[in-house]
Amino acid sequence: SIPSFPAVASSPATAPTPSASLSINPPSYYLSTPAPTFQLPHHLTSFSYSPTRELLLDPSNKDDALAWYREPRMGSDLNKGFGEAVWRNGVVDEGLDALVDTLSAWAARDSTGGADDVLSKVSVITWRGMMTKLMLAVYEAENAAKGRRVDGWEMNAMVLDGCLYIEESNPPSKLAAKAASESSNALASYYGYSFESFCTTSSSSPSAATEEFSVPNTNVQWCSVVKTSLGEFRTIVGGEVDCVRPGADKERIGTRDFVELKTNLVIQSQRDEVNFERHKLLKHYVQSFLLGVPTVTVGFRTRAGHLTGLQSFNTLDIPRLVRGKPHAWDPGACLASARSLLSFIHSTISSHPSTLSADEDYPVFRLTFDPSSRDGPHVRLRELSREEVRV
Ligand code: A3P
Ligand code: MG
Ligand code: MG
Repeated sequence: SIPSFPAVASSPATAPTPSASLSINPPSYYLSTPAPTFQLPHHLTSFSYSPTRELLLDPSNKDDALAWYREPRMGSDLNKGFGEAVWRNGVVDEGLDALVDTLSAWAARDSTGGADDVLSKVSVITWRGMMTKLMLAVYEAENAAKGRRVDGWEMNAMVLDGCLYIEESNPPSKLAAKAASESSNALASYYGYSFESFCTTSSSSPSAATEEFSVPNTNVQWCSVVKTSLGEFRTIVGGEVDCVRPGADKERIGTRDFVELKTNLVIQSQRDEVNFERHKLLKHYVQSFLLGVPTVTVGFRTRAGHLTGLQSFNTLDIPRLVRGKPHAWDPGACLASARSLLSFIHSTISSHPSTLSADEDYPVFRLTFDPSSRDGPHVRLRELSREEVRV
C-alpha cells in the first residue's frame, strides 16, 4: 500500500535544521562520462480531472477527459471564449494525492500481482513537472551564470520503504504570487488553452457535426502514469497529456499515441529563432521526453492571438535540431545531472538520522534550488521541523 504525503505548514516556526547540499556544475561536467540510461516510458494507467476538479480514477470514468487531436484552422482566433472560460483555483495545493490514489486504485484492480510487483521495485514516485525541474536545473544554473533572470524552486521529499516521493512545495505565499502572475498574464495564458481547444475533440471519430471549439475549463485534464527508469532509479511519473493522435483506441492507449500542444509567438527574427531553439525547444523536449510523448505540435500565433502557423516535432529528433549550434544544449547533461540529484536526495534522506522519534510521522525534507547563489548554483536538502510539517 502507498502511504500519503503529510501536508506541510506554511511558515517555519523554528530555526532551520542542518542541511546537505549538492553543487550544480556546468553542462560540460556532466558530459565527460557516458549519459545514464533512460528507459522508454511505459503507460501504466490514467486518470482524469472533471470540470469541477473531481478526481476520476474508476475504470468507468478515468478517461473522461481524454481528447483526440484534429488539425486547427489557420487564422483561428485564440481570443474566442476568453470571457466564458472556467479557470482552475490556483491556490489549492494538491500535492501527490492524485498520483498516489491512482496507483492504489490501479494496483487494487490488478489481480495478477503485476502492479504490486512494479510498485515494490520503484524507487522514485513524482509528477513529471518535478522531474522536468530536476532535468533543467543544469541549464537554469548556466542561464543564471550568464546573468539571465532565473527562478529557483522548492520541493518536499520523503523516503518511505526505500521509495523517494517528491512533491512541489507550495506555501500559500507562493501559490498566491503564482495566481496573481497568472491572472495578470491571463490572456497570453488563455491562448495556450484556447489553442488546445481548437486542436482537440472529445470524440475519437469526429463527424462533420462535431463542435469545432469548446470553451476551455482549466480544471479538466487527462493524465498518464508511466513507469520508466533513469540510471539505477526505477521511477513512476504522472503527467498531463494534452491529446492523443487521431484514431487512437481508448481501450489500448500507449505513449506512442500522445501529443503535446504548445503555442509560441511567430518567429520573425534570427534572435527569435535562437531563443526558441535555446529555451523553448529544450523545455518542450524534456517535458515530453519524460512521459514518452513522441510528438510536440507548436501553434504559432500573432501577438493579438491569431493562429498563423503549425509545426510538429518528433520529440526524439529535437536535440539534433540544435546540435552543433552556438546555443546548443545536450540532453545527456540533463539526464546525468538529474540522476546525480536523485542519488543525492535518495541517499541523503535514507541515511539521515531522523530527529523524530519512531512513533511519529516519517520525516519530510525540503529541497531548494538556488541557481544564483553566491556560493555557486546548488540544491540544498534539510529536514523540516515538526512545526513545519502540518500533521
Ligand atoms: P502554452 O504552453 O501553449 O503556452 P502545457 O503546455 O504544459 O500543456 O500547458 C498548457 C497551457 O497552460 C500553456 O500553453 C500556458 O498557456 C498555460 N501554462 C502552463 N504552464 C504555465 C506557467 N508556468 N505559467 C503560465 N501559464 C502556464
Ligand atoms: Mg498540457
Ligand atoms: Mg501543452
